[in-house]
Amino acid sequence: MSDYTKKIMVTGGAGFIGSHVVRLFVNKYPSYLILNVDALTYAGNLENLRDVENLRNYQFERADITDGEALSVLFEKYGIDSVIHLAAESHVDRSILDPLAFARTNVLGTANLLQACLNQWKADFSLKRFYHVSTDEVYGSLGKNGLFTEETSYDPRSPYSASKASSDHFVMAYYHTYDLPVVMSNCSNNYGSHHFPEKLIPLMINNIKNSKPLPVYGKGENIRDWLWVNDHARAIDVIFHNGISGQKYNIGGFNEWKNLDLVYLLCSIMDKKLGREPGESAKLINFVKDRPGHDLRYAIDATRLNKELGWEPSLQFEEGLEKTVDWYLQNEEWVNHVTSGDYQKYYENQYAKR
Ligand code: NAD
Ligand code: TYD
Repeated sequence: MSDYTKKIMVTGGAGFIGSHVVRLFVNKYPSYLILNVDALTYAGNLENLRDVENLRNYQFERADITDGEALSVLFEKYGIDSVIHLAAESHVDRSILDPLAFARTNVLGTANLLQACLNQWKADFSLKRFYHVSTDEVYGSLGKNGLFTEETSYDPRSPYSASKASSDHFVMAYYHTYDLPVVMSNCSNNYGSHHFPEKLIPLMINNIKNSKPLPVYGKGENIRDWLWVNDHARAIDVIFHNGISGQKYNIGGFNEWKNLDLVYLLCSIMDKKLGREPGESAKLINFVKDRPGHDLRYAIDATRLNKELGWEPSLQFEEGLEKTVDWYLQNEEWVNHVTSGDYQKYYENQYAKR
């Protein structure tokens, strides 16, 4: 272990964003040890990392972040000096069905990780870093105008965003109280390959492909700001290396889409790819009962990250969506694996009532 220049624990590395972060770091930094720590819940899938699993600087350990003893053992075993924390329960609809699971992993799990860092590193905080990956949803819901900046007050409105907001507060509390060297980012909605098909874009792609109804909540007027997942991973790389301790950075694509317009765009991309008549897939659109407490609009002002650290998104949305659709069409086996079993039960339960 001693020949590595950094030994980074990435939590949630088997999930959607985590797997992109692990892939980027393992390939870009051969001198870093990347330890993926993941409980492998329904959302964690080691198939996401098949292309890097045999590389020398990659290791995986199955552990639950709420288990403090297990974390201490891993810190000792690998000599961990940095954490990039992504493990979380991440789906708003699931948080409405089971809020306490979100309190447990997102709040208790984060506090537990912070405490493990404090215990392990307190003799010497130099060259240490705790990076907390968070969401724009902590800021609540925007009206028609305005953007979330780093100074926007927190106003979470779903059990998911409340649990993430709480975890953000714990992170800052460890910075102010114990000087733990933390850095944090709040990102808008991600899309791309390996995205679990319970979230809007992969769910719609899967349903369009299988000619199943496309469940649009309410009137489809809610707005999200979409960022390609690889651009989020690039931002995490930049902030991990150059971000200022105690600082937070908003990440977003300056790319707002109304849900219904986005679903129409996906339908037209897929009509072409599947050789259907223009307008054929859009006939599947089905307006269903709205999500309770559905936030109207998210939109990020990522100026600080751009001005201070030079990051900007690399891809136009239409190009990113095409790449994403292609990936799903070429990776049917992946989709079949993740949509079997538990997900099938969740899907039936979630949409039967709507
Ligand atoms: P995901 O649900 O795809 O993956 C979460 C991962 O965490 C899975 O691999 C899961 O097995 C693991 N995990 C869950 N509970 C765990 C526990 N108790 N112990 C250890 N591992 C556990 O989530 P994602 O979309 O990749 O999101 C990753 C992070 O980024 C989250 O913190 C999320 O809040 C944040 N985020 C997500 C988005 C987005 O659009 N998806 C946007 C901004 C921020
Ligand atoms: P989602 O992907 O769950 O992300 P989040 O709620 O964290 O932003 O949902 C994105 C938007 O799409 C949100 O406004 C809810 C809406 N939506 C639907 O209309 N139908 C669906 O089946 C899903 C999953 C989401």
